Amino acid sequence: MARIISILSGKGGVGKTVVAINLATALHKWFDKKVLLVDCNLTTAHIGMYLGMYSTPATLNHVLSDMIPVDNAIYSHESGLDILPASLPLKDLKNIRPKKLRTKLKKVFKQYDFIILDSAPGFGREGLMALEASDETLFVTTPIAHSAADLIKCRELAEKLGIEVLGIIMNMVKRRNYELSESQMSYLTDLEIIGSVPYNERITESVVSKNPAVLSNNIFNYSLNKSFKSLAKKLVREEANQSFSNKFLSFFENLLITPKDVRELTKK
Ligand SMILES: Nc1ncnc2c1ncn2[C@@H]1O[C@H](COP(=O)(O)OP(=O)(O)OP(=O)(O)O)[C@@H](O)[C@H]1O
Ligand SMILES: [Mg+2]
Repeated sequence: MARIISILSGKGGVGKTVVAINLATALHKWFDKKVLLVDCNLTTAHIGMYLGMYSTPATLNHVLSDMIPVDNAIYSHESGLDILPASLPLKDLKNIRPKKLRTKLKKVFKQYDFIILDSAPGFGREGLMALEASDETLFVTTPIAHSAADLIKCRELAEKLGIEVLGIIMNMVKRRNYELSESQMSYLTDLEIIGSVPYNERITESVVSKNPAVLSNNIFNYSLNKSFKSLAKKLVREEANQSFSNKFLSFFENLLITPKDVRELTKK
């Protein structure tokens, strides 16, 4: 069963789409995970453009307006990812019901290890759609102070909706003295920093050449690849822990001991 993880930010242009694409690719490339990447930008779709997928007649917009089933809008990409793109034409914004996203995704839950939702910026109807459909969320920010304020709002919203916040990914890090350090960002937002991605021109090159940056093993990609591999590793390790505790709990359930009893026993 897939873990559904949304990639969020308050501010636009901080690198959510780049992080979503490269994290999804890292999970597939280094950990052999089956990943579905969903473009939740219904008004300004980017994933298809960043990956060179222009011919996608069926999209998430059509799924959310009940025109087609979700599997009809999923495309295999040469990176090994499955992609559920959003529409480019504005006419496809009619009759969309964003709240249906999670129900629609349920049909393909079992086919994936991870479903990554790339969100629109902000907290409007479109921005909230990905958060509401996810079980867990990751925040992306640049290391600049005002972005921290936006993340506090993101955290409060996620908490209100009961969605687990996995932490913050600091992107476009240049290590200049005007930037917040990881510990300062963590202190201000009260959240863990689970990843840090350097500023690297190879990202923009990869967007222009329409391939995820982490697919290249070029020496100039070394620090980028290292960042995304380590982030993917954290998610996979957590997944292993989750499935271990699920197995542990179901073993005791079979002995007619409830999960609550197990938690009580393991507390001591
Ligand atoms: N680590 C990085 N180093 C250099 N450039 C980057 C990095 N991350 C992102 N960029 C560049 O920043 C720009 C914005 O990235 P991206 O589209 O991923 O942001 P976004 O948060 O998804 O934007 P939006 O809020 O509009 O959806 C892109 O041109 C991308 O090439
Ligand atoms: Mg984006």
